Amino acid sequence: MAGKPTKKSSSNKRPGPPLRAPPTHAAVPSQPAPTAAKPSNPTLSTPAGATPAAGSGSWWSRLSPRGKAAFAVGGIAVYAAGVYGFFQLQRPPTSDSEHDRHDACAVAGSDQPDRRAVYDEIARDYDREIARDEWAMGMLLVRRWMVGKAKGDTLEIAAGTGRNLAYYRFPRVSHLTLTDTSSAMLAEAAKHISPTSTPSTDLVGAKDALPISLIEADATRLPFASNNFDTVVSTMSLCSVHDPTLAVREAVRVTKPGGRVLLVEHGRGHYNWLNRALDRSAEKHAEKWGCYFHRPIGQIVDAALAPVAQVVESDGKVAEGMAVATEPLAKITSVTRLHLGTTWMIEIEKVRASAVETVD
Ligand SMILES: C[S@@+](CC[C@H](N)C(=O)[O-])C[C@H]1O[C@@H](n2cnc3c(N)ncnc32)[C@H](O)[C@@H]1O
Repeated sequence: MAGKPTKKSSSNKRPGPPLRAPPTHAAVPSQPAPTAAKPSNPTLSTPAGATPAAGSGSWWSRLSPRGKAAFAVGGIAVYAAGVYGFFQLQRPPTSDSEHDRHDACAVAGSDQPDRRAVYDEIARDYDREIARDEWAMGMLLVRRWMVGKAKGDTLEIAAGTGRNLAYYRFPRVSHLTLTDTSSAMLAEAAKHISPTSTPSTDLVGAKDALPISLIEADATRLPFASNNFDTVVSTMSLCSVHDPTLAVREAVRVTKPGGRVLLVEHGRGHYNWLNRALDRSAEKHAEKWGCYFHRPIGQIVDAALAPVAQVVESDGKVAEGMAVATEPLAKITSVTRLHLGTTWMIEIEKVRASAVETVD
């Protein structure tokens, strides 16, 4: 604007040479140029050409001798573990014959004591004890992923303390039935549910509008009609149930045709070295936790789904007690294995109706 003095922005100013005092020609006796002060401690001096900085020196030179030793030992340990792990992973997966040797006992569970009573003892501490391990292994995501697939009228077998409750989505799941043989484990599950009534021993309640029934029941002898549920869920259970093959057969029996059985289980992994380690500690682990973590989950499920001769009631056409060979009732639609093969996520689809009301 006219008449207004234009202010020059200071940011437009170019930095000029540093202001110097005008040379004086007064007769000042010439002084020797100042020299850098010598360091009083020669060991802390900066080598010629290096830029001095506060706390200078490499991180290694700043480490104490003990720190250096710890670092070196740690490095060697990590290297050795890496080399060992690499060569172990090169070994072929567990052979079928090795699986078979374990099958004879593990599939039937015949040589393994029934550890159900353990769960009544550990129920109160169960969630606290396993929470950290499950978190570290990403099991919360695995549970969310598989349990989130449940829909319609849903049954969970060997449901324990109800660790999957958070992952059932209402109204996708219309009703949930949780079963287990341990009343103490079910009592823990009940704490997450708002009771709406308590008829006899069973509890009927709800969580976030999802109606829930808690029923004490053996997974190998389910008190439900055949072809009844849209989804049956089992997580971390086949390791504990005394006859896991029968439990899967029962899960299939009570599932409607077109419905699904969703399994998240743990057992033998891909590698011999790992399975040998599981075998060595399985009995001790089962004594404490009630769970045999070395079972061949894939073969248990295969055995359960294999067509079996069923005894059909006399109806005039089939003689009473006569065994008839059947087509498979269900098929595996997907298998995903994590954690070196020890965690199994298996989806099973029921393809035809069960003709019998119980498996035995
Ligand atoms: C390792 S816990 C798993 C609990 C739960 N499914 C979970 O994912 O946290 C195994 C459960 O199986 C139950 N169990 C053992 N044998 C059973 C059987 N024959 N029938 C039903 N539940 C059984 C135990 O009481 C225990 O609650």
